[in-house]
Amino acid sequence: MKNIYNIAVLPGDGIGPEVVAQAVKVLHSISEMHQVNFDLQYADLGAVAIDKTGKALPDDTLKKCMEADAVLLGAIGDPRYDDPSLSVRPEQGLLAIRKAMGLFCNVRPVKAYNSLLGLSPLKESYVKGADLVIYRELTGGIYFGEQGRKEDGNYAYDICGYHKYEIERIVRLAFKAARLRRNKVTLVDKANVLESSRLWREVFNEVKSGFVDVDTNYVLVDNAAMQMILNPVEFDVIVTSNIFGDIISDEASVICGSLGLLPSSSIGEGHALFEPVHGSYPSAAGKNIANPLAMILSMAMMLRHLGMGAAATDVEKGVQRCMDSLILTEDLCADKSEAYSCSAVGDAVVKAMLVQV
Ligand code: IPM
Ligand code: MN
Repeated sequence: MKNIYNIAVLPGDGIGPEVVAQAVKVLHSISEMHQVNFDLQYADLGAVAIDKTGKALPDDTLKKCMEADAVLLGAIGDPRYDDPSLSVRPEQGLLAIRKAMGLFCNVRPVKAYNSLLGLSPLKESYVKGADLVIYRELTGGIYFGEQGRKEDGNYAYDICGYHKYEIERIVRLAFKAARLRRNKVTLVDKANVLESSRLWREVFNEVKSGFVDVDTNYVLVDNAAMQMILNPVEFDVIVTSNIFGDIISDEASVICGSLGLLPSSSIGEGHALFEPVHGSYPSAAGKNIANPLAMILSMAMMLRHLGMGAAATDVEKGVQRCMDSLILTEDLCADKSEAYSCSAVGDAVVKAMLVQV
């Protein structure tokens, strides 16, 4: 294990800076507890970068990220740039950084936490025990295919294409992950309609032959959307394309009760970025009410990725204790007057980490 890690920190827009500040606070405690140093290099991405430089992903930001051991990202997006006809938009920064860093594998774990079961809008009996992870392809498919207009703007198209190698590398990672979990991989696709999905199935079957100990099944995406709500405990590892993964991961957040709880990691060859699944939640920006737990749990995924498993477990235990004591932000409180602020939840995680068991 190294003694100093170079971390690029991109707070981004909306609630991004507030939740990142909480994760950084927790990281400082980890630094003291585990005698490890983090050199934090701050940089801009998204609307904040457009305002300063005219570009959603400035060159200097990308350089810092490419040189870092890992990147921590808050959120991007700003209603001032919502008009889809604008030529420069914050989302372009996020897509560009994923592509430029080659972050093809987006890992989104979803768990029903026992102490929060009553807070899911779904019946407790449906979600209890749910523990799944979505492996979402992140640098290909319809997000990055050719797009455009024809017929004087009256016809629009977005091509969803996949190369075999793009499918193979993420499917392989999904199978490897399954071996460390409950040994099951579900391919979510639309192979009854889409040719690209049929290639996903072919490649999935090829990879599967090297993992005969792992159980597999295929679920069509429309049915998967239903099964995730009716029977989430059936899923272990889900592997899927960029767009399907985007959609089902927001849906999956209902299982745990709030999008504010879902962390993610995005992994490529030699680079990795950690960000919450949620967006910039502009209406909450600056109010100190956002849930910082998804960001803090993303930071824990970063620690584990960097080989600091014990430190990651400390953070996760801190979060767990916070949940068990119902120290929660308003997205998880039926009665908002009982809610804790974003920074109070960050403080509580730090305090809970220091409690020896
Ligand atoms: C996500 C987001 C992004 C995506 C947007 C902001 C471009 O929804 O990370 O899930 O669609 O990938
Ligand atoms: Mn999304």
